[in-house]
Amino acid sequence: MRKIIVTIDGYSSCGKSTLAKKLASKLHYKYIDSGAMYRAITLYFLRNRIDWNDQSAVDNAISNIELHFEVNADTKQSEIFLNGENVEYVIRDLVVAEKVSEVAAVKEVRTFAVAAQQKLGDAKGIVMDGRDIGTTVFPNAELKIFLQADPAIRVTRRFKELHEKNPAVTIEEVKHNLEMRDYIDSNREISPLRKADDAIILDNTDLSPEETLNKAYELVLTMKSRP
Ligand code: DC
Repeated sequence: MRKIIVTIDGYSSCGKSTLAKKLASKLHYKYIDSGAMYRAITLYFLRNRIDWNDQSAVDNAISNIELHFEVNADTKQSEIFLNGENVEYVIRDLVVAEKVSEVAAVKEVRTFAVAAQQKLGDAKGIVMDGRDIGTTVFPNAELKIFLQADPAIRVTRRFKELHEKNPAVTIEEVKHNLEMRDYIDSNREISPLRKADDAIILDNTDLSPEETLNKAYELVLTMKSRP
């Protein structure tokens, strides 16, 4: 069967990566978490004290960054590597989340990340989630999903996830971080988060991850049955 590109965009913590992972696995496609790339770049900037408002510092830093994904043999999940180091878990820290939207708004950072993402989609057979995948990275993708969920549900979900790893995290911190990221991601100058005109809205507020997957899978089948 012909391979397609599926894009999944939406606000922070609406379940994009959960859906994208499951859908990719069901379709035997590659899964790419584009947010992980922005998080890994942010981690590099923080560790090396790069001022992301200084263009030449950013250009120089980017030329020293190599990102790639590898599938973990045990979990079968794709994990991101920054200059050869597996940073899949450390990039989920709130310290990175607090700065990632600022870094992701920098033009040179986006140019670098988008080029890398487009290359990963060369052979199709890919599910990629993010904020601008259907609008900028793959404007010609065969299926574009815009995932939505009630803001209170998103806060609860992200809190549960972060609290398991770090019991010191409070719900207020998580709420503030999500609101701030949604604001910056939707209002930045370059490729702000928005629904592509031809994207299909999928609201999972009252759906389980399995039900969300089934709906998305139906969309893939409908799309693929078109001549
Ligand atoms: O999906 P995530 O929460 O891991 O993404 C982290 C940040 O990266 C998010 O706040 C905005 C940015 N991002 C982006 O600007 N464009 C993308 N395609 C993906 C993520």
